[in-house]
Amino acid sequence: MRPGGHSEKRRILVLISGGGTNLQALIDATRDDEFPGSIVAVISNKPEAGGLARARHAGIPTETLDHRQYPDRTSFDQALKARIDAHQPDLVVLAGFMRILTSDFVRHYHGRLVNIHPSLLPHYPGLHTHRQALAAGDAEHGATVHFVTEELDGGPGILQTRVPILPNDTETSLAARVLAEEHRIYPDVVRWFCEGRLVLGENAVVFDGQPLAQPLQRAVGEH
Ligand code: GAR
Repeated sequence: MRPGGHSEKRRILVLISGGGTNLQALIDATRDDEFPGSIVAVISNKPEAGGLARARHAGIPTETLDHRQYPDRTSFDQALKARIDAHQPDLVVLAGFMRILTSDFVRHYHGRLVNIHPSLLPHYPGLHTHRQALAAGDAEHGATVHFVTEELDGGPGILQTRVPILPNDTETSLAARVLAEEHRIYPDVVRWFCEGRLVLGENAVVFDGQPLAQPLQRAVGEH
């Protein structure tokens, strides 16, 4: 126990490839002394990722591991695994980390690897989710936080946020509204994990001791 009666903080490691607005939301949330985890490092596969500056600005150690320096996916993932494990994280958070991961990597972090994806999974795994939701004439779109398994953008859903699609929405306007919701849900999931309220059970996500038949749901404006 730390002074003040708080148990020790969980160690969070964040992987990014881009601008890092979800990373920023996590940095902001973990600034709260009461947050049960702290970000021990941020690793990017792209040296130019804007999120690296966000981390440095917050005093968080950063590392870059450029996937183009590796001959194949397996060797990159092995090197990444070694870098991650040097920080002994309790939780690895994918925050716009745009890499397909090898089975070996995913299995190694089973139950302690989460991702956020900008769609109401299982709809629209992969890229261009906003464009696809508009083209399909969907009434709503959203984002999903899920445990990562070997399936691309798959794995048991934890929390989904739903946003209505408006008549004049473009890919850009819809993406912006979904992203704002991502920033609200991801820190909550990370908090629950760090509090020990969220575990990946044998067949389902277990939240507060109850297996989830489907991801928890949150609509815009709900807390
Ligand atoms: C977010 O919209 C995230 O959901 C998405 O990349 C964006 C990263 O933005 N992730 C995926 O598409 C994963 N398949 P950010 O760098 O500003 O957090």
